[in-house]
Amino acid sequence: MDYKNKKIKGVLKQDYQFFSHGLEGVAAFETSISYIDGKDGILIYRGIPIGELAERSTYEETAYFLIYGSLPTKAELKKFSNDLENHISLDTEDIKWLKDFPVAAHPMDVLNTCVSLMSLSEGGDYEIGRESDLKAGIQIMGKMPSIIAAFDRIRKGKEPIPPDNKLSYAANFLWMLNGEKPKEKEARILDLCLILHAEHGVCASTFATLVTSSTMADVYSSIVSGIGTLKGYLHGGANEQVIRMLERIGAPENVEKYLNEATKKKEKIMGFGHRVYKALDPRARILKNYARDLTGKRDEVLFKTALKIEKFMEKKFGPKGIYPNVDFYSGFVYKALGIPTDMFTSIFAIARSAGWIAHILEYRESSRIFRPRGIYSGPVNVKYIPIKAR
Ligand code: SDX
Repeated sequence: MDYKNKKIKGVLKQDYQFFSHGLEGVAAFETSISYIDGKDGILIYRGIPIGELAERSTYEETAYFLIYGSLPTKAELKKFSNDLENHISLDTEDIKWLKDFPVAAHPMDVLNTCVSLMSLSEGGDYEIGRESDLKAGIQIMGKMPSIIAAFDRIRKGKEPIPPDNKLSYAANFLWMLNGEKPKEKEARILDLCLILHAEHGVCASTFATLVTSSTMADVYSSIVSGIGTLKGYLHGGANEQVIRMLERIGAPENVEKYLNEATKKKEKIMGFGHRVYKALDPRARILKNYARDLTGKRDEVLFKTALKIEKFMEKKFGPKGIYPNVDFYSGFVYKALGIPTDMFTSIFAIARSAGWIAHILEYRESSRIFRPRGIYSGPVNVKYIPIKAR
């Protein structure tokens, strides 16, 4: 066979079974971790409705539930919380790294870099398998809150605050961030936000995590893929952009003009729309109530501006199935808890680490490398022209 001049007879359409731009509507594998009913705006984690978990569970318990597949006994939950606590402290090396980072670095980039640094300590002896995967996953989950809290203190010229392991996962983050023991209500609300953000099926960042782990890469590399993907403003980065948009608009009376101009330019309004939900995102429904409850005098105009946007968007885009998503109201809650705007997506990443780890472990059980096709629309049988002839 003269392979040098083998001719392609046109682009073989039968190279792939079907085509869907951006894989819209495509199921790539089976999962029992969560389900979204986009038409009716329903989300369940392993069969339990998100509202019930948000109301009755804790983030540690929900993370265990997602990762191990069953609600933990008291002893199992205690051991899981202890495992997380064993990794929450930063050592002098970690803090030295954080102090060397540019203070202008985005917290999501800090998170990404630190998870990569954690893999260096694993050295080459990472054996792909449930035990190593779980160990690395819990190490990452344990450390993420400390990394973000410590970086924020360092960039403000303050010393990091060591964790207080008498506190819950959420309360410990607020303690390490603000240097004050959070009120019970504040810790409970952050805990609820972590539950709401813990898992959401095959979103872009979970898919990226799985594409990486499907090549039998380790959990560190997979979570680095997830963090990088979540950062995008069409995905987890939207929560930070919502608050920046509200601050740009400034007041409810400016909403109409701003949105008419933006939508005329086909700009996407941050915090609205969803690939799966064509009804109100159930997480947005819950967060809106907490945002209303927590928004004090200082942010009252901002919240009223948000309500005006929601009204305008509902009228104009509701019929197209475009409603507020999880990112539209979450920023109000984080602001009220003293979390800086550029850290909102990092909170999302901290919470979603549970879902990423659950999916990595589940997919490993029947792993198949992700390798879709692109429809080739380029030329074929083109002759190479030597440079002196070009
Ligand atoms: C998250 O996937 C997940 O589960 C993600 C997430 C999770 O928990 O992991 O839920 C978290 O990422 C929520 C989404 C956060 N992103 C944003 O808020 C950014 C703004 N939203 C859009 O960019 C958009 O809605 C997406 C990216 C969320 C979904 O995009 P799709 O499914 O690709 O929809 P599309 O861009 O093809 O839009 C379809 C139509 C278009 O109009 P036409 O060209 O048909 O006339 O709807 C319009 C779009 O212009 N549209 C919007 C809009 N979202 C869609 N128009 C104005 N503002 C918007 N926000």
